[in-house]
Amino acid sequence: MKKSATIGILSLAAAFASSHASADELSLVCSAEQSWCDLMASGFEAKTGIDVAMVRKSTGETLAQVRAEAGNPKIDVWWGGTGDPHLVAAEEGLTQASGADTAQLLDWAVNMHTISGGKTVGIYAGALGIAYNSEILAEKGAQPPACWKDLMNPAYAGEIQVANPNSSGTAYTELATFVQLFGEDEAFRLLKEIGKNVNSYTKSGSAPSKAAARGETGISIGFMHDMVKLASKGFPLKIVAPCEGTGYEVGAVSIIEGAKNLDAAKQWVEYALDADVQSLAQTVKSFQVPSNSNAKVAPESPDLNSIKLIDYDFATYGSSETRGRLLSRWDAEVKP
Ligand code: G6P
Repeated sequence: MKKSATIGILSLAAAFASSHASADELSLVCSAEQSWCDLMASGFEAKTGIDVAMVRKSTGETLAQVRAEAGNPKIDVWWGGTGDPHLVAAEEGLTQASGADTAQLLDWAVNMHTISGGKTVGIYAGALGIAYNSEILAEKGAQPPACWKDLMNPAYAGEIQVANPNSSGTAYTELATFVQLFGEDEAFRLLKEIGKNVNSYTKSGSAPSKAAARGETGISIGFMHDMVKLASKGFPLKIVAPCEGTGYEVGAVSIIEGAKNLDAAKQWVEYALDADVQSLAQTVKSFQVPSNSNAKVAPESPDLNSIKLIDYDFATYGSSETRGRLLSRWDAEVKP
């Protein structure tokens, strides 16, 4: 009796230990849209039986958390968000090689893998653009913008919303795009001028377009696929590919250095690069271009080949030094 009770307790303890072993749980930060984050997490749980504890955080905010937790990370894997902060994390030794199989991936996704020494890899791409609420601009009698420089027009006073590039990868993509299009000093001059029309610098990159869709602001800067999602829901949002050309993001996935659930994290990376998994994004209206060449591209996805894209320099603008310098300058010159 006594012996079997002891054995029972021991096997219970063993079962408890195994339920807390590395393969059974995964701590995830998701920097894409909440509905896609939820779909990805529940799909992974169903496929692997691994419990996912997930929070949604903007890309720059996640980089700040990963830096703060260096040496004792709470996060195992960081999925989604713009690639530059993922590259910064790789350079700073905050993420580790995932062993990702890149054979089916498009060049721009493999490029992130190459630059980072295998510590991050591309999962999707999307172009930056401008959106405007056609009803608000009509009420104001203001012409729609066609170019980045049009955003300096005093007719848009108090009507432009964009995120803060410290917290938001979207807004950092905008800052880096301006520097690549116009040169650094001119970029800051333009951002300061446009800043006179900005009503708020939000934390998350997709918030300004949601505000424009609801009529809380006339104009937003953000990713075109987020704007397409809102327009497809019936909001009076029109999308502009700026005349000077525009930048783009390569969304990425990285495993955190010192991840407590490394095996589960590696399974997540494999899952995130799977063509069938990427093809499901469009079911939640996430219209980025998937990185797996065999994944289905949504008909609604902005066609990157028909947009005038710059040759975005991820190695430079995803470096710790460049990002830090541009953000300090933004804080000093644009934010005030
Ligand atoms: C949205 C977009 C993603 C992008 C992300 C960046 O979720 O759909 O493509 O990667 O914003 O978020 P952030 O808040 O860092 O700008």
